Amino acid sequence: MKTTDFFKLANGVTVPAIGFGTWQIPSGDIAYNSVKEALKAGYRHIDTAQAYGNEASVGQAIRDSGIDRSEIFVTSKLPAEIKSFRAAQIGAGMTMKKIGLDYIDLYLIHAPWPWDKIGADYTKENIEVWKAMEEFYESGKTRSIGISNFSVKDTDAILENSRIRPMVNQIKLHIGHPQKEITEHCRRNGILVEGYSPLATGRLLESKELAAMAEKYSKSVAQLSIRYVLQKGALPLPKSTHPEYIRQNIDVNFEITPDEMSYLDTLSAAQPRPWE
Ligand code: A2P
Repeated sequence: MKTTDFFKLANGVTVPAIGFGTWQIPSGDIAYNSVKEALKAGYRHIDTAQAYGNEASVGQAIRDSGIDRSEIFVTSKLPAEIKSFRAAQIGAGMTMKKIGLDYIDLYLIHAPWPWDKIGADYTKENIEVWKAMEEFYESGKTRSIGISNFSVKDTDAILENSRIRPMVNQIKLHIGHPQKEITEHCRRNGILVEGYSPLATGRLLESKELAAMAEKYSKSVAQLSIRYVLQKGALPLPKSTHPEYIRQNIDVNFEITPDEMSYLDTLSAAQPRPWE
């Protein structure tokens, strides 16, 4: 997979096929240097969120990179706790202020519920927030809009009550957690699935079984895991702060055999819920 490979959103916008995830990368020098390093390594897609607290550092690194803004795809997210139209308008404005870019490429509702109320029903509120997302899209401040951590039911509520359909659903997706139901539902509805934590935040790296499989391809477990997400038709968002890993994670131009993909699909992480 090269940085020249893209996914296409329902509105025709193209998205570089691997994104650099910045969840848990502390703001300041670490976030700034990691994003600079990712851009140097060839990533042209950077994923942040207001809740990560690093939008300002990410935006600064993008501005300082010397790379034409139009070549970089930038995602951020509206905090999950924001559940009214007016607060969503203010929240989107906060992102633009912190990130310091004229526009972003994708804005997502971070989750269907506040993080301290996981699983609670915020259907009515999400429909209201989505109206602010539509308005934000129409203002031209973002080139696309979507959702994150949304289940089938949460997604349907938006699909049934929107003028502009979500173009992306970003969910946790990795070997052992293929998220079959929601990924198929998104595909049927023309929604691109992005997968965060493609290495299960590092847990997959401990698997001897995956290490043996990766070795056959002369690749690392990280590369095998990222490639798996791509071959599931989803867009992986690996995260790292180490230049060597950052470079490695975008070098996934190989093919896992159909048999091995099927086998990887059978592995279970016993995590049935979409956001886990
Ligand atoms: P670090 O951030 O210290 O560089 P995920 O993308 O699933 O959230 O996983 C991120 C975790 O995996 C981080 O702890 C990151 O380490 C680690 N990691 C990322 N890429 C690699 C790699 N190529 N080899 C080993 N560890 C990696």
